Amino acid sequence: MNPLLVVGSANVDYVLRVPRFPAPGETLAASSLRTFPGGKGANQAAAAALAGAPTTLCAAIGQDASGEFLMTQLSARGVDLSLLTRVPTETGTAVIYVDDTGENQIVIAAGANGVLDPAFVRETVAESHADFILVQLEVSQVVVRSCLLDGKKVILNPAPFRPIPGEILSQLFLITPNETEFAGLTGSDASSIQGLRQGAGFLREKGVNQVIVTLGARGCFWTDGVNELLVEAPQVQPVDTTGAGDAFNGALAAELASEKAIEEALRFAVAAASLSATQPGAMASFRSREEVENLMRSALNSSDQALR
Ligand code: RIB
Repeated sequence: MNPLLVVGSANVDYVLRVPRFPAPGETLAASSLRTFPGGKGANQAAAAALAGAPTTLCAAIGQDASGEFLMTQLSARGVDLSLLTRVPTETGTAVIYVDDTGENQIVIAAGANGVLDPAFVRETVAESHADFILVQLEVSQVVVRSCLLDGKKVILNPAPFRPIPGEILSQLFLITPNETEFAGLTGSDASSIQGLRQGAGFLREKGVNQVIVTLGARGCFWTDGVNELLVEAPQVQPVDTTGAGDAFNGALAAELASEKAIEEALRFAVAAASLSATQPGAMASFRSREEVENLMRSALNSSDQALR
């Protein structure tokens, strides 16, 4: 498979299981507290590496025990850490509530992610053998700009949501918002095909080459302005949806980097995301290519049976 460069954040996730989300001013008892590797950049790099792409993560972590923990977890998943910088700032942290339905709420302290050096990123992207660069919005906008070099295909996962200047949008190969980010970016509603077409058209007019909207359990929508696809996700019982979007983005980027046809890449990515929702944690819930392909096969078999 072809190489992929992921530029982004790395966090330690402190995950509290709660029966429901607390109301303002309320104190609630959690049933458990677990520590997981996370951060959208690190998660997406892990998902891509597990999908089989030779993946390098360009990120900043602290010179602390959390940084060591992340390095161990990422190398166990096959991520190349040669572009990871250690800075004298604490490693990024996320506090995550997961409720009984598997939904989450996340609060982040950027820490080292906030000091990832844009000049280093620019140099790294310029020297990288990867044609595809995957980046998110847990790093500064200057870092995102540093990825936009001629000849590179930049995939932006616009998470967490922030307004994006037209000058960045116009240089993107692909943008992958979820429904909330899509509404924030375009003012359109992802619940109908008309809304998806309208919002995607708006982004294409800004100069984005291709648009994918992730639709949770409904799968995803893709368009390049001429063709479009709606790809269903295999149905699963969700335990924790944290990181499902990262599983999707990492798996998708791995497939695109390896020149897979878009429909094949989307089917693999939605299956990787569905599978991740069946396990606790973000990166910790990502599975190998083989396990994702097994889920795709069993989803195909059950839809065949439903047709008989
Ligand atoms: O997308 C999930 C991730 O968001 C978590 O791992 C957390 O660290 C936050 O970055």
